[in-house]
Amino acid sequence: MTADIPALEALAVAIAREAGALARQRREEGVSIAATKSVLADIVTEADREVEDLIRERLRDARPSDGFLGEESGAEPGTSGITWVVDPIDGTVNYAYGIPMYAVSIAAVSGPPVAGEWTALVGVVYAPAIDELFRATRGGGAWLGDRRLEVEPEVSPAGALLATGFGYDPATHAGDIARVARVMPIARDVRRIGAASLDLCSVAAGRVDGYFERGLKPWDHAAGALIVEEAGGRFGLLEEDDRGRPLIVAAGPGLFERLVVVALP
Ligand code: IPD
Ligand code: CA
Ligand code: CA
Ligand code: CA
Repeated sequence: MTADIPALEALAVAIAREAGALARQRREEGVSIAATKSVLADIVTEADREVEDLIRERLRDARPSDGFLGEESGAEPGTSGITWVVDPIDGTVNYAYGIPMYAVSIAAVSGPPVAGEWTALVGVVYAPAIDELFRATRGGGAWLGDRRLEVEPEVSPAGALLATGFGYDPATHAGDIARVARVMPIARDVRRIGAASLDLCSVAAGRVDGYFERGLKPWDHAAGALIVEEAGGRFGLLEEDDRGRPLIVAAGPGLFERLVVVALP
């Protein structure tokens, strides 16, 4: 099976823009938290569900035999060999508080719909509140709007601005804090942007030099990982902890291994 990658990309871009516009409109109308999922930080709004329903419906209409994996509505296997991996609103806490760093993340992957085993073909991350659209296709480069993205190949740790995130599972927090404490002294500074997809796009765009976080889910990183790699950076889904949570590291080629050494475990 050969996939028509430009057609998949055009579809993902159109749906991400429509979904982003809906998220932004709902934000302007006022957002309330619909439910708390696992812990206080792990919230879902009506908009998360509505936006995922829209994306799922558009994909089903356009490509009924593809599979789907979304944060809010789960997995549905397909028969075409292509699966769409979707985070309808990445950065829901930012969204709920009116911080503009949230994004719709859509990836088309081939092979088993399992992070680490699939091949990402297309990745689109659209941040509607700042109207920035990041996209990449396998072999076709990474782009922010019309600008091709290329990471700085050599950045020394001492000059590196890094980003991180804290997963929802409280069992990771001690490790998260210890990791930040190890990284801070060797880096310029550390940011917590609050949306993993935008952390990854920030690496691709050179807005940060590296990113690390333990415990992301496939929909958090599926699109952003391809955007990093197509910008010439490295993305690693590294050793899982005892609860199966991988450590994610992304950085330019010169910094990546050094960051891995400090960030692990
Ligand atoms: C979360 C965000 C956050 C990251 C969490 C993710 P959500 O996704 O990307 O930055 O630290 O690990 O779960 O729940 O806002 O889609
Ligand atoms: Ca969530
Ligand atoms: Ca997410
Ligand atoms: Ca989400």
